[in-house]
Amino acid sequence: MSLVVDKLSHRYGAVQAVQDASFTAAAGQITCVMGRNGVGKTTLLRSLMGQLKATGSVRLHDTEIGGLPAHRRAKLGLALVPQGREIFPKLTVEENLLVGLAARSDGQRSVPEVAYETFPILRDFRRRMGGDLSGGQQQQLAIARAMVGDPKALLLDEPTEGIQPNIIQEIGRVLRRLAGQGLAIVLVEQYLDFVREIGDRFAIMERGQIVAAGATSELSQEIVQKHLNV
Ligand SMILES: Nc1ncnc2c1ncn2[C@@H]1O[C@H](COP(=O)(O)OP(=O)(O)O)[C@@H](O)[C@H]1O
Ligand SMILES: [Mg+2]
Repeated sequence: MSLVVDKLSHRYGAVQAVQDASFTAAAGQITCVMGRNGVGKTTLLRSLMGQLKATGSVRLHDTEIGGLPAHRRAKLGLALVPQGREIFPKLTVEENLLVGLAARSDGQRSVPEVAYETFPILRDFRRRMGGDLSGGQQQQLAIARAMVGDPKALLLDEPTEGIQPNIIQEIGRVLRRLAGQGLAIVLVEQYLDFVREIGDRFAIMERGQIVAAGATSELSQEIVQKHLNV
């Protein structure tokens, strides 16, 4: 299912954090949102998820979801892997994954095998506390928890932040595979090599607005130097 965003805006009091952001994240593609710290990337994703109240339109496979609360968007197939992962440190890995079931409508009560097949380390560690995992393992857990809800569109906020290279590679393979299954993926990412490696499209934000967009193959050095810190 594609995600079509039209003139999305959010302000925190006097701070216009996102202004008139429009883009399409096509089904089967990884659309990368880039930009320096503080330009509005997290606000954009949290507005798409419905965790922040925004103006403008968000359509998921032709259904307008822009006015719906987050739990309704989740039921319709939208999932967010938040910045900083936000796993529950005092719950076990399995309990963290069970939380993801809330987004489903099919009555599934146990962790679907796909979560453990995707990241086998989570099966080995399923009785461990979330807080006892490494940062990379927690990120895998956060992604698996989103997948447990069987989403059609997946939003990820800087999943490679502070994570070791081998786990970044594993996450990249998983995201490519999910895109191959038809998911629309919106990836907020500052790590340029990762974007070039796994992204299909990019959109660059500056002060709340999307100022450049295109295919990642067109992500020139000029664009990078102008809008990103490298
Ligand atoms: N809860 C908040 N209240 C007020 N301003 C905020 C809040 N969260 C973020 N901001 C501001 O909104 C802007 C965008 O922040 P954010 O979306 O977190 O950017 P990014 O994810 O690109 O680093 C920044 O200027 C930030 O200081
Ligand atoms: Mg952020």
